[in-house]
Amino acid sequence: MDASTGLPGRPESSLSPGRPEFTERMEAARALDAGALAALLSDPDPRTTARLAAAADETMRAEVGDAVRFRGLLEFSNVCRADCLYCGIRRSNGTVHRYTLSRDDVLAAARHCVEAGYGSLTLQAGERRDAAFIDYVCRLLESIKTETRGPALPDGLGITLSVGEQSPEVYRRFFEAGAHRYLLRIETSSPELYARIHPPAQRYADRRAALHAVRDAGFQVGTGVMIGLAGQTVWDLADDIRFFAIEGVDMIGMGPYLPHASTPMGSGQHMSDDERAQLLDRTLRMIALTRIVLRDVNIAATTALQTLDAFGRERALQGGANVVMPVVTPVAMRSGYQLYDGKACVDEDPTMCAGCITGRVAWTGRPVEANRWGDAPHFARRKQG
Ligand code: 5AD
Repeated sequence: MDASTGLPGRPESSLSPGRPEFTERMEAARALDAGALAALLSDPDPRTTARLAAAADETMRAEVGDAVRFRGLLEFSNVCRADCLYCGIRRSNGTVHRYTLSRDDVLAAARHCVEAGYGSLTLQAGERRDAAFIDYVCRLLESIKTETRGPALPDGLGITLSVGEQSPEVYRRFFEAGAHRYLLRIETSSPELYARIHPPAQRYADRRAALHAVRDAGFQVGTGVMIGLAGQTVWDLADDIRFFAIEGVDMIGMGPYLPHASTPMGSGQHMSDDERAQLLDRTLRMIALTRIVLRDVNIAATTALQTLDAFGRERALQGGANVVMPVVTPVAMRSGYQLYDGKACVDEDPTMCAGCITGRVAWTGRPVEANRWGDAPHFARRKQG
């Protein structure tokens, strides 16, 4: 048994890409075979990562096209009722200065997205369920929709919402107010691992029920997981990909777990360069395999990946990812939204981010799809039925 992968030890030669085994495993992975997915994730041959990226790139171009879609990411409040053991803005972290952006600041950020050609806005915040917050979010959604209409965007900005677990009724209200996509990560598809990284009051069954309620409200559904959690094996990660496929989600956001010193999971944790390199490799393989298996969904190259490696986002774009979320949160607030230590772009303002991200995408040679909502084809196909 290999302690790091949880897989029974296998002779290295039988796993090397270029041999028939690689193609066979890819086909088995497409058919959701857990063993094939786990073997591709843990294959010791470093060339496997590039090989998977090339296959993922091919699938992406065929299924969703080569354009990169942008969504401005506005972290509009860090007030949170949840107490996730890994997250820097968890309720119990008393060192965080809490903020909620005013309506004017939110609308200014939305206008910035329009000017930058982003076409879509992702509104993210900590989880709150009180009526004042829910009403505030509904009013924000309505205002953003009406105030961002114009020649380039006749229906206003596309809006993705991400404010945690809510009731089915609240999800319906958010949808009616104008959001059309919703992100709620399952964090890990393993109920046991989920229980280890959350307090007892936050239950896996509730998270899963909330994901179904999101879908029932009419949203395009996004989910995702963290990669590199203590005790997480390649079998868990293989199951994560199977979970995405079985749930039939439209969008995926995945990134490495990164420690935050003021959290129970992150205090005293330090990653060596070797560990960082391995985590990057595993994350890139997860992104590539998710594209290969799910085909026509949207997959984000996340900020956490960029934090792990200066070119992490670019590498994700070269291996299956097709969405980038430049941060549009006002610079004064950014330090308050540190989910993990060392978060990238904390000192930069939205204009700097716009220039930087455009240059980075150009570097990958991919065109940008400006002034579009950029929905995943998967959603339209799911609706047709
Ligand atoms: N490392 C990586 N990702 C994290 N998130 C929260 N805390 C961390 C961390 N320490 C992710 C979770 C959450 C999303 C908003 O941020 O997956 O769903």
